[in-house]
Order: sequence, then structure tokens, then C-alpha cells
Amino acid sequence: MKKPNNESVSTNKKRETFSSGLAVFFATLGSAVGLGNIWKFPYLVGENGGGAFVLIYFLSILLVGMPVMVSEFYIGRKSRSNAVSAFTKLKANPKWKIIGYFGVAAAFLIMFYYSAVAGWVYSYVFKAINGAFSNLSNFSFEQATNIVENQFLTTTESLYSPIIWQGISILVVALILIGGVKNGIERITKTLMPVLFVLLVISCIRALTLPGAKAGFNFLFKIDFSKINPSVILSALGLAFFKLSLGMGTMITYGSYFTEDNNLIHTSAKVALSDTFVSLLAGIAIFPVVFTFGMRPNSGPSLLFNTIPLVFSHIPFGNLLIIAFFILASIAATTASLSMAEVPIAFITEKWNIKRKYSVIIVSLSTFIVGALTVHSSSIFGHVTILGKNFFDLFDYISSNIILPVGGLLIAIFVGYFVSKDSVLDELSNNNKLSNSKTITIYYFVLKYISPLLLLIVFLNSLGII
Ligand code: TRP
Repeated sequence: MKKPNNESVSTNKKRETFSSGLAVFFATLGSAVGLGNIWKFPYLVGENGGGAFVLIYFLSILLVGMPVMVSEFYIGRKSRSNAVSAFTKLKANPKWKIIGYFGVAAAFLIMFYYSAVAGWVYSYVFKAINGAFSNLSNFSFEQATNIVENQFLTTTESLYSPIIWQGISILVVALILIGGVKNGIERITKTLMPVLFVLLVISCIRALTLPGAKAGFNFLFKIDFSKINPSVILSALGLAFFKLSLGMGTMITYGSYFTEDNNLIHTSAKVALSDTFVSLLAGIAIFPVVFTFGMRPNSGPSLLFNTIPLVFSHIPFGNLLIIAFFILASIAATTASLSMAEVPIAFITEKWNIKRKYSVIIVSLSTFIVGALTVHSSSIFGHVTILGKNFFDLFDYISSNIILPVGGLLIAIFVGYFVSKDSVLDELSNNNKLSNSKTITIYYFVLKYISPLLLLIVFLNSLGII
């Protein structure tokens, strides 16, 4: 049996932090921007009817996402500890550690399928290099669409290659993480995030010159209120949490590496805004293609893979741009995975007091072993369903639609009602060094009265209770 407070032993060691405000921003943005923006956001918008979903998504970010993000930063920086021990450090009732434990569980559930999708994305870089999409312009729209769709099926359904690619994506993340906070996470995110942005803008410019640009734009921004229903709201809220990496301790863990002089509220606003901007850019790059090539916007997780090769199919150097785009997507997937894996890694390293290297190996190997189940969840394991969902959908549903919103609710209640207001005010104003008392008042009000209420209503409704 372990002693209950043995976490404090290892946290006495000097903890790493990011080196500057810019590094904090890029690392946090690197966590937020990921497959969520370029893969999940577009297909959920497609499945949930377009503009109305986008509107609810914005509201979720503003009224729930940002306040919860600031709260996670508060818990992390104040405690300078991993997502589980943070609660002990803040002298809270040990029951609150459940947030951290659920977080560690959610991190694994998400990594199981996220690494599979990351593997698809990596493999597309090599497909494009090998010329799989290089002569699409010789075919009619319909034939080109068929070719691209077949490529997706062969990528995901062949027996070994998706598992090998998944393994490669996990390995890359592991190698960066072994480098640690400054040399690993910080260095990679600071270089790669700007590159990603530039590539995305190029994709948008091209997409906007397609004949279906207007229809795509309308789909994304035209609000049809009749499309709003409880399941749309729950998906938008779940996406807001997934997008901003909230509800499972990622931002607690990253917050624990923040510099003392960082303005937590500013960081959250800048990250939320930039992240949402990137999602919209992805939507603008993808939906014009859907409408130009007569595809279905609600085709689900394959949407990204079936549209992007077509965006660039009829332009000079198109093939190079396809390669560039999938490199971009790989970057996004990788920097986001770093932050996911960091939750269990920080926890295991500090809890068992082992070398960081070993916890990286433990977390990566277990992700690979269980994660392989998701790769063939709709083919070989297609008959295995739990609650009517295959492994892939089940892991996604439990994490995004249950653990993240419930984790967010508990975090909001914890910071709003169970820690002293003074402690929150001190931390958010950097011990009164910032003169931001008005913003803090607004944050505190929304966090205490609005975010939990919204989360509760939406959640009870989704369970059919109200
Ligand atoms: N935000 C990332 C994305 O959009 C995914 C992600 C990284 C995440 N860390 C997380 C999601 C923690 C939930 C929780 O792709």
C-alpha cells in the first residue's frame, strides 16, 4: 500500500517551466489546434447541419470553454503539480482527485483513436509523395471522387499498414516527449505552429476559387435555427471541450509549467480565438470542395481525407500542396498528442517517482496496444459493439460527450465554490501585479453562475432527465 500523500515527495524536485510568454502561448495553442480543427470540426459541422451548429459552438467556447480553461490554468499554476496531485496541493478534499483520475482515463481513451487518425494522416503524406493523387485532373469529377474515396478505404482497411502508421505516430510523440517540457514540447510547437497556419491559408485561398465556394460558405455560416436540438447542442459543447483540450487536466498540467508572470485570462482568450479561427479556416478549405464535387457534407470521419486531395487536384503544383497539407495535419496531430500524453506522463512520473523516459514508454506502449483495436473497429472488429457503438465511436463518445463535459463541470464547481475567492483573484492578477480586476470579475461571475448551469442543463438533457 502506498502512503496517501506520497505525491508530494517527487514534486519537491525542481519542476520545468516554459521559458517565456510566447512559449506558453504556442505550447497551449499547439495543444488546442489539432485533428479537432481540420478533421473533427468540419465533419461535425457537416453532420449537424452547418451554421446553426457553428453558432452554438461559438457560444460554448465563450460561455463555458474559456472560463473552464482559465480555471484549469489556475489549478495548474497555483499547485505546480500534475492533474491528480494538484488537488491535494491546493489542500482540497482528496475526493476532488477524481477529476484527475478521470482525466488520466480520458487521455488514454482519446489517444487510442486519435493516434489511429494521426496514423492515417501520416500515411497520406507518403501516399501523396508516391503520386496517389497526382493525375486526378485527368478524370471527371465523379471518377476523381471515386478514386479518392477508394484510397481512403484501402488506407484504413488494409490489415497491417494502418497499425504500423499508428505506431509511427505514437513513436514520434514519444521521442519529442522524452525531450521534456522545454527541449521537447516548447521547441517543437514554437517552430511548427506558424508553418501550419501559412499552409492552411493557402488551402483556403484555393478552395475559395472553386465553383462550389459560395455554397460551401453558406453551409458554414448560414444559420438555420430549426436545425438546433439537444443532441446538436451536446455535440457542440463536447467539441468545444475537445477543441480547447479541456475537462481532463491537460490545461491543468500545462498550466503547471506556465511562467509566474503569464496573464492567464489573456492566454486563454488568445488561444481560444486563434483556435476557433483555425477551425473556420479548415471549414473554408473543405466545404467548397464538398459542394463543388457533389459530395455529402455529412459523410463523417472520412470527410477530410476525401476532400483535400480534390481541393488541389486541378491546379499547378497541386500534388505538392496535397503533400504540404497532410504534413500540416500531421504537425497539428502531433503537437496536440503531446499535450494529451503529458497528462498521464506527468502523473506517473511524479506519482511513482520514476524517470520521465520510463513513463513515456509505459504510456506509449499501452496506447499502441489498446489503440490498435480502434484501427479495425469498423472492419475486423465491426461486429463488436458496446452500447451500439464500435470501439472507435465508443472511446470518442465516452470521452468527448461524457468525461470532458462532466470534468469541466466539476472543475467549474471546484474553482467557483470550493476554493477561496481571494486565492483565485491573487493568481489571476499575478498577486495584484496586473490591473485586470474588471476582467476577473466577469470571469468569476460567468464561471460561478453561467458555465456550470449550462453544462448541467445540457448534460441532464442528453441523459433524458430533463
Ligand atoms: N485539442 C486537440 C484537438 O483539437 C485534441 C486534444 C489535445 C485534446 N489534448 C486534449 C482533447 C485534451 C481533449 C483533451 O485536436
